[in-house]
Amino acid sequence: MATQRTTAGGADAATVIDTADRSELKLVIEENVQAVIFTPPALPGWFDEVAHSVETGDFQIARTVLPNANYQEIERTLELRISTGVLSAEVRECLKQDMMALVDDLRGIYGVSRFMLRCFTEAPTHDCGYHVDTVPPAAPTCGLLRVYNGQGTEYADPRNVTSMLEFYRYLAHRERLVRERREMQRAGHSSAALDLEIDALDKERAFLTRPREVNIAPAGAIIAFKHVDIRQHWANHPKSQAWIHCSPMSGKARLVVNLTAPGWARSDRRQATRGISH
Ligand SMILES: [Fe+2]
Repeated sequence: MATQRTTAGGADAATVIDTADRSELKLVIEENVQAVIFTPPALPGWFDEVAHSVETGDFQIARTVLPNANYQEIERTLELRISTGVLSAEVRECLKQDMMALVDDLRGIYGVSRFMLRCFTEAPTHDCGYHVDTVPPAAPTCGLLRVYNGQGTEYADPRNVTSMLEFYRYLAHRERLVRERREMQRAGHSSAALDLEIDALDKERAFLTRPREVNIAPAGAIIAFKHVDIRQHWANHPKSQAWIHCSPMSGKARLVVNLTAPGWARSDRRQATRGISH
């Protein structure tokens, strides 16, 4: 598959790169690149065993967050968290090595030696619609996502997004409705009306020029993408600063790994100011 770039024109240029070349993940640090989606031409055979075991619920990883860990600490944690006796020993090792390769990818992008790892197996819910991921103030803004199975991750082509203000209007509305739904459910009341309202909002996709146009990053892809500095969240920042995406809202459990960097390598500190200077 040839590298493809979708670029929003004008002052707010933003690009999503589709590639079959893993080494291009590093292009995510370029100013106008919102995300790089590396889709391997073929997935290794062990993915099937992982997907099957996750979807049947036989293989589970409890929600794990390591906020600031080095390579060895992540390796030790995965050794403990990826249970033995469910996956074959060979597949278990392949999965662990695959997750550690993501750590190598991010180290290659930033030269960092400490990482924030989040991983879990969970079934999708309706709580989270289209959103952007955030990082703490002045932290590196590029992170990696790999979802090993399931329907893939929807995302908005930056050319199709009307404006970040419009997007945050949708997000604020949706978050309010989800909070209200939670309160209704906690109080033991029916949330049917709110379910319908949230569903309508998601279908309307008022922040898109062509609301029916949906892009999918398939399961197995590795996505390097911009997270917005938390101080810019809700601001009318350039589209290139955040990848607007949405996980599936139904289906079986998925194995999800998300990796960011909590701080800068010394040689990369200049990026900290570059990332929030717009
Ligand atoms: Fe996300």
